[in-house]
Amino acid sequence: MLTLHGRGARRGSSLSNLELIKDGALLVRDGLIAAVGSRGEVEKLPEARGAEKLDLGGRVVAPGFVDSHTHLVHAASRAEEYELRIAGASYEEIARKGGGILNSVKKLRAATSEELKKRALAALKQFAAHGTTTVEAKSGYGLDVASELKILKLHKELAAEQPLEIVSTFLGAHVVPDEYRGKANGAERYIQLIEQNLLPGIGEKRLAEFCDVFCDRGAFSVEQSKRVLQAGRQWGLAPRMHAEQLSRTGAARLAILMRAASCDHLEKVNKSDIQALGKSDTVATLLPGCDFHLGLKQYAPARALINAGAIVSLATDYNPGTSPTLSMPMILSLACTQLRMTPAEAIAAATINAAYALRREKMIGSLEVGKQADLAVFEVADYREIPYYFGVSHCWMTVKRGRVIHAAEQTPI
Ligand code: NIG
Ligand code: FE
Repeated sequence: MLTLHGRGARRGSSLSNLELIKDGALLVRDGLIAAVGSRGEVEKLPEARGAEKLDLGGRVVAPGFVDSHTHLVHAASRAEEYELRIAGASYEEIARKGGGILNSVKKLRAATSEELKKRALAALKQFAAHGTTTVEAKSGYGLDVASELKILKLHKELAAEQPLEIVSTFLGAHVVPDEYRGKANGAERYIQLIEQNLLPGIGEKRLAEFCDVFCDRGAFSVEQSKRVLQAGRQWGLAPRMHAEQLSRTGAARLAILMRAASCDHLEKVNKSDIQALGKSDTVATLLPGCDFHLGLKQYAPARALINAGAIVSLATDYNPGTSPTLSMPMILSLACTQLRMTPAEAIAAATINAAYALRREKMIGSLEVGKQADLAVFEVADYREIPYYFGVSHCWMTVKRGRVIHAAEQTPI
């Protein structure tokens, strides 16, 4: 049993400290962890005698994965762009021609809430089947008042209607939508729409906890991003950012300056950004699924970030354009082979540090007394086999707040 017991977010050498208990056991009461320790210790507790027993057969138990970066609600895949890229077109070329995010915006605006919900529910089942128990979800494929609210309301409905925890993020500043492009002051006018027409309603109805901005070449500048994040903060939304993915813009510096919960991607950070992240509480969330799917060679400098003392986390970035995967085990495999993280570091990055990235480290991300009983159980003999196997889910059972929400019918080899 990997408990990840300790004092919250892990940096440097403590990232590989999983606090493993051999032959471990947990006592769960009302969805929360009431005791944790060796089986002998836990079985001795008076309360354990009357408890319902769940025998996990010596399998590996970890805290459920916390996927701190997804674009959960979208209408369809972009397989046509995938093929264009294989033929040589770049992500940015496709975006400049009206594909990319705008392609997904067109599809989402045309889709009904019911259609979007059906697709998201199917995805959430799969998240659970891969050991994920908390999912952050961003808007950002609506980009007008009605469509952004359609997504954010769906986040609320999804949170109420299925077992996974959903953390809602407003990403109105994903790109400037088509109807504002080519107009005088188009970007400026769209930012005003965010400030004046979107954020007040979102803030008042508490439809999102975080405000995100895609701060990059072809999206929003550092100055524009700062404005949006400040406006978000005025409505009670904490900042987080897409930063330094396609080009180095200074986005990570802005995230640090604004005490953002996290800045994500970071393929293009420079040495001084790495040092600055090492000294800050802003999480460095790495999304290797993007580089893998886009066929790029330059992954984020995970080792340098860890050495500098940054709080490194991992997420899927589940989205139809750059990372169509919801498998955290696959992300761990990429973290190990491409980012050169050890299996232990990757697991800590995907649990306790990801919980910190969502400001939920007091409730999730480790198996400790008082926290939620959110567990992923793997059909493996050694925790290193979780990233070692790839492309197949070895998640045998998933438990959310003490309830079994996924149980594998057959176990893979
Ligand atoms: O995290 N970079 C911006 N947003 C997404 C991609 C969105 C898309 O291409 O649809 C990302 O990679
Ligand atoms: Fe993203």
